Amino acid sequence: MKGIILAGGSGTRLYPATLVISKQLLPIYDKPMIYYPLSTLMLAGITDILVICTPADLHLFEKLLRDGSQFGIHISYASQSTPRGIADAFIVGRDFVGSDDVALILGDNIFFGHGLRELMVSAKKNGTGASIFAYRVSDPDRYGVVEFDNTGRARSIEEKPQFPKSHFAVAGLYFYDNRVLNIAADLEPSARGEIEITDVNMQYLKKQALHVQVMGRGFTWFDIGTHEAYIEACKFVQILEQRQGLRICCPEEIAFEMQLISPEMLLAAAEAASRSQYGLYLRDLYNIKTGVNK
Ligand code: G1P
Repeated sequence: MKGIILAGGSGTRLYPATLVISKQLLPIYDKPMIYYPLSTLMLAGITDILVICTPADLHLFEKLLRDGSQFGIHISYASQSTPRGIADAFIVGRDFVGSDDVALILGDNIFFGHGLRELMVSAKKNGTGASIFAYRVSDPDRYGVVEFDNTGRARSIEEKPQFPKSHFAVAGLYFYDNRVLNIAADLEPSARGEIEITDVNMQYLKKQALHVQVMGRGFTWFDIGTHEAYIEACKFVQILEQRQGLRICCPEEIAFEMQLISPEMLLAAAEAASRSQYGLYLRDLYNIKTGVNK
């Protein structure tokens, strides 16, 4: 399965903070925002990843993430000159996806929770169709909203409805079979001029091929669409990391735990950031895992 991180858009809702820098490159506490969705895809076991961003930001993402080999994965890049909607990722990324299945994650979405990996691995294994996630929020009208029937099956999905039929928002993490490429290619833009991911999901729903998994209350999901959400996510990461002494969505750590990189590569990453707390964390990890500090 291939993976796509959509990190395009002009971030106008966060202006002027995002006037000259991509939103997805802003730090969420101790690391760039894009490290979080990247880590999520890595946890799902996806190692071939396409980053889609604006042409102006391309060199910055490339500078940050390079070819991905430092994380034991492969990262390639494509640019999207105008933000034409989330489903456009499957038009821009068509050649990259080829004949594979594909997972898409939004570059400003942060997921955290015990069992996240298992949840994604089971979504990945679902075979044909689509697997998406619903998460209870207090402000569903800002999102795609899923309505469930009495048996817990999805009955409808609406994009930013004025009168939401439930509190369950569709989170920005989607697993699709290869049909998504043609579904996206055939979509008409919505009233807001975008090719909507909700329309993709509706197509799967009509084919009875949409699996909606609820992410329970033990999970945390942030969509960094406002200054409030931004600072909340920063605080969340800071609090957890300080309390536990463990870092959230550290790609080097995930790569090491998943045996995608060697202890020597972990050490090299630690040394490259040796003056930061992040680098010290990687160094401690190396020491513990290689028995230096048993
Ligand atoms: C998009 C999708 C929406 C989804 C949300 C998740 O919203 O259109 O269905 O719930 O991402 O972050 P947008 O970012 O376009 O406001």
